[in-house]
Amino acid sequence: MNVANEVVEPIENLFNPASNEYLENPAPQFLALARRGRLVWYEPWQAWIMTRMPDIMDCWRTEYLSSDFYDWEFAPERPPEDKWSNYERAMIGHSLVADHGHHRMIRKVVSPAFSRNVVDEIQRRIKPDVVKLIDSLGDLESFDYIEKVANHIPFITISRMVGLPEKYWPEIKQVVLTFTEAWNPTISDERREAARQDSNRAIEILQRVIADRRANPGESDFLSVLLEIEEENESFSDWDIITLILALIGAGSDTTLIAQQWTLYALLKHPEQIEAALETPDTFSNAFSEVMRWSYASKMGFARYAPEDMEVLGQQVKKGQMVLLMPHLKDHDPEYYEDPERFDVKREFKPDVLFGYGPRYCIGAAMAKRQLYLTMVELFKRFPNLSLESEPVLDNSEHNAVVFRELLVRTGINK
Ligand code: HEM
Repeated sequence: MNVANEVVEPIENLFNPASNEYLENPAPQFLALARRGRLVWYEPWQAWIMTRMPDIMDCWRTEYLSSDFYDWEFAPERPPEDKWSNYERAMIGHSLVADHGHHRMIRKVVSPAFSRNVVDEIQRRIKPDVVKLIDSLGDLESFDYIEKVANHIPFITISRMVGLPEKYWPEIKQVVLTFTEAWNPTISDERREAARQDSNRAIEILQRVIADRRANPGESDFLSVLLEIEEENESFSDWDIITLILALIGAGSDTTLIAQQWTLYALLKHPEQIEAALETPDTFSNAFSEVMRWSYASKMGFARYAPEDMEVLGQQVKKGQMVLLMPHLKDHDPEYYEDPERFDVKREFKPDVLFGYGPRYCIGAAMAKRQLYLTMVELFKRFPNLSLESEPVLDNSEHNAVVFRELLVRTGINK
């Protein structure tokens, strides 16, 4: 056949996360996209998709693309400094969204706040809240895990981790829900404005919390560690602390909520592997990578933006265009994983990139795994005979993840 005359089917006919076929089984669509090329233009998202692991790892490691949302061609205009509200002050030019050099400095400076000791301490703080939440289920015969447990865990964890006093919880809980949308590149201008206003309210609360803590030091939580770091580093300010906390809320809420659902679902589908998965925090760490590989949770991957017109992997990419790194395309590829549809909590991952790689590796990885581990251990301790009540209905309305509408489980308790 004459290759030049071969008609290439538009990729959106073969890969469509909004389709029912994708929800039923996205694996063939992942493969079709990955086989199309290393960097594929995807018209419906107006974005390039980077499909292969060595290229994604290189991009993560060398950071030749920008992570700054304001570099995106469709981002709202970067406002001039005299028009900044607290939101812009926190989001532009600070901490984790800052230019690569400042970002690396911040990561280095804050690393003690994510040390093993601090994570252990945070686990101690979260445990009573988790136990209380699970105890509050009483002797129910069945319940929706998402409504009764998963929805509450991210907020509890982040509040305890940061050290937000409980008196601020009701106020900040409200704003956190919409605030996380400020990180979503696909929302409408109206929703972004609402998210911006909620972020401003969250910032005011955080400023009060910081002032309170300065006046009454002594806790051994994340906020105190950050205030100590601030005293010792001239280039680290209150605004860096605020941005960092906002980033933890933004990056740590939806991710954990999704992880909770898929972890419980995967374990209940494979009850013979629960014991091995929950044996220690380390066995769980591996099991969790397998849960997220086996699941179909990830959709769009991780956004980067071209800082200038440039050639990337043989394609001409224009300044401001979005490039999505999609490491999950490999997850059901038999050339990458042996027998990919088999769930095996002991599968080896070399390398394990669930939490990213390189300078922007997930700062909350240890925290995320610990809180999930803790919740699963306490849940199965309380309900050793837990099982699925029914197969959950998938919900495709989230921009970046496939989740469940509800996850009904039976406790095995007969009243
Ligand atoms: C269970 C779930 C989680 C998964 C799978 C996950 C995964 C990731 C990945 C892959 C990245 C890199 C993104 C990129 O390259 O663009 C990342 C970054 C990040 N994650 Fe997580 N994460 C999880 C939970 C958390 C939690 C609980 C927190 C906070 C407590 C958190 C905070 C962050 C932050 C702040 C960044 C940005 C780091 C930087 O730019 O230096 N994540 N996460």
